[in-house]
Amino acid sequence: MSPPLIIARKRDGHALSAPEIQAFVRGAVDGSWADYQLSALLMAICLRGLNAEETALYTTAMTSSGAVADLSGIPGIKVDKHSTGGVGDKVSLVLAPWVAACGVPVPMISGRGLGHSGGTLDKLEAIPGFRTGLSLAEYRDQVARVGCALIGQTPELAPADRRLYALRDVTATVASIPLICGSILSKKLAAGIDALVLDVKFGHGAFMPDLAAARELATTLVRVGCAAGKQVRALLTRMDAPLGRAVGNALEVVEAVAALRGAGPADLMEVTRALGVEMLLLGGAAATPAEADARLGTALASGDALAKFREVVAAQGGDPRVVDDPGRLPVARSLEPVSAPRAGFVTAVDARAVAFAALRLGAGRARAEDAVDPAVGVAGLVPVGEAVAVGQPLAWLHANDPAGLPEARALLAGAFTVGDSPVPPPPLIADRIGE
Ligand code: URA
Repeated sequence: MSPPLIIARKRDGHALSAPEIQAFVRGAVDGSWADYQLSALLMAICLRGLNAEETALYTTAMTSSGAVADLSGIPGIKVDKHSTGGVGDKVSLVLAPWVAACGVPVPMISGRGLGHSGGTLDKLEAIPGFRTGLSLAEYRDQVARVGCALIGQTPELAPADRRLYALRDVTATVASIPLICGSILSKKLAAGIDALVLDVKFGHGAFMPDLAAARELATTLVRVGCAAGKQVRALLTRMDAPLGRAVGNALEVVEAVAALRGAGPADLMEVTRALGVEMLLLGGAAATPAEADARLGTALASGDALAKFREVVAAQGGDPRVVDDPGRLPVARSLEPVSAPRAGFVTAVDARAVAFAALRLGAGRARAEDAVDPAVGVAGLVPVGEAVAVGQPLAWLHANDPAGLPEARALLAGAFTVGDSPVPPPPLIADRIGE
């Protein structure tokens, strides 16, 4: 099947057949399609789209481009969560052990931060010794033993996505709902899950700019995931301001541990708990949302959720003492406040500006091969709605490299809007998609 013919058919607006889609995805793995041919078809798909049937075929072909983990020998309904990415999004660190402590196995495959959005793997690797690169066999064994594993994508899972995503990143073809759907779901379906809860974020700090775009993506993901035989639900959650009070890898681990002690910031707890309710319902650990919520409350209050996190850290080679002694995490050399220029109320915190301030300090990466500094970032962010006095710190910069400080300082100061009267923060959870 000739690549130019397939490219031309999509260029001219035709629906591709199953063999054509399979040839494209196979070509991404076996090298029979050149980068320029893959890129041309990606651009044609970006401009012309894929219909519902093509999107499902594409997702299936991407899933079977590599190994599909078999977790069927592990008792229970295995449920994962995926976030489309945000700023200060440490939800996975709190949610995975919390849900596992309620008896639902959580095999979680996460990504690294890129651009302004952070990644779960970078946060976990701030814990000394923590290994995210488990093999598929180690991952399966840990889910069976501990009930939870938090790992990165292995080379065997959905290898077509590795090549296609790298090309999309440099050819302006990331922003396509069918391509995003195939990319996200193929990795999740290959990981051997039974059910998936999606946190589809919208707003200034998210990948999807508004609620309508997030709804379209969520609806596609739920439809295609269900067609693949999995139970899939999505929450649409607002990402205008950072989630929680900290942005930066070790700083977010500290905040996640506080949340597992029941002392997390209200916004982080609200989103995490709502996703937890969905996971417990899908996992069969509760029959109603109220029962699921009560069960989560018990696991938090009893210390079981925190104990599960400690167990996961130890199982993956990390130093479990960080849970009780966060001083063991990497700490930045300098700490300086950004202060309120006037008295009033915080009316907005621009998640993207905060993210770029943290990025400038070295907390994230501009290119996939960049290293991150686990210690640096921004903490103590005053949330929307709170009163501030003139000169009061609005947030603190945790820095190691003085070179990035002036720009980070300016970005962080510009992230805050202080007004005369309080504005109530808008609801964080805008909708829920799926049966
Ligand atoms: N995250 C993914 O894994 N894939 C995409 O295409 C976009 C976001």
